[in-house]
Amino acid sequence: SYIHRFKGLNSMEEEVAKKLNIHKVLIVPGSYDEDELVLREIGRVASVYLKSILKNDIVIGITGGQTMAMVAEEMSEDDLKHSNIAVIPARGGLGKNVEKQSNTIAAKIAKKLNASYNLLHMPDNISKELLKSLSEDPNIKEVVDYIQKIGILVFGIGRADKMSVRRGLSEEKINTLKQHGAVAEAFGYYFNKDGEIIQEVNTVGVSLDHYKGLQHIIGAAAGTEKAEAIIAISKLNENLTLVIDEGLAKKILI
Ligand code: F6P
Repeated sequence: SYIHRFKGLNSMEEEVAKKLNIHKVLIVPGSYDEDELVLREIGRVASVYLKSILKNDIVIGITGGQTMAMVAEEMSEDDLKHSNIAVIPARGGLGKNVEKQSNTIAAKIAKKLNASYNLLHMPDNISKELLKSLSEDPNIKEVVDYIQKIGILVFGIGRADKMSVRRGLSEEKINTLKQHGAVAEAFGYYFNKDGEIIQEVNTVGVSLDHYKGLQHIIGAAAGTEKAEAIIAISKLNENLTLVIDEGLAKKILI
C-alpha cells in the first residue's frame, strides 16, 4: 500500500526477516503500545496471508489468545476456492478460559472458510498417566490424529512471565520458569531466549518436533514487550512468517 511504501515498511520487513533469519515478515503500520486498534489490522493481515497459502486437503491448526481471536474476527468470508479444509485448535484444553478460546477461534475460522472443524476437549496440565489414557479414547484419538495432520499452524506468541500468570500456574512453577530464563511462550511451550525448551504443558497438541518440521507457520504478535519472545520463537523454525506491528519491528531491530 501507499502508507507501506511511504513509511519504508517494505525494507523494514526485509531487515527484520534477515535479522531473525525467517521466511517472511509482514509489518502493520503504527504501534500497538500507542493504539490498540493495530491488533485488528494484525489479525486482518494474518488472515489474508493465511488465505493466500491455502490449498485443498489441508488441516489448519490455531492457538488461542487475543491476537488469534482477531485473526478469526477480521477474516473475510468469501467464495470457497478450496475443498477439504479442516480447522482445529492446535492444543487442547478446557482447563482455563484462555485455552478454551482456541476452540471458539477454530470454529469461527472454519465457518468463514467454509471448512470443517473439530473441537479439542482436553484439560491442560493433567498427569502423564491420565493424558495417556485419555488419548486412548476414540473421540479424543480422532482429534489427536487430526493434530498430527496439521499442515498450517497459525499461532500467538506470548511472554513467559505473562502467560504463566494468565494460565494460573503456581507461584513455584512461575519462579522455576523465571530461574530457567523462560522468556517466550507459544503453543503450550515455554522457551528461553535461545529458543530452548524450558517446559511444556501436559496436554495433547502440536509437539515441538512437529512444529520444527512444518512448512507453513504464521505467528502473529503485537506490542514492544514481546520483542524478546519473538526473537526466541524465531529460532525454532526458519519457515516462520511473522505478522507484527511497526513498533514491535523497530524494537526487534534495536
Ligand atoms: O494461550 C494461547 C496463546 O496463543 C499462547 O500460546 C500465547 O503465548 C498467547 O496465547 C498469546 O496471547 P495474546 O495474543 O493474547 O497476547
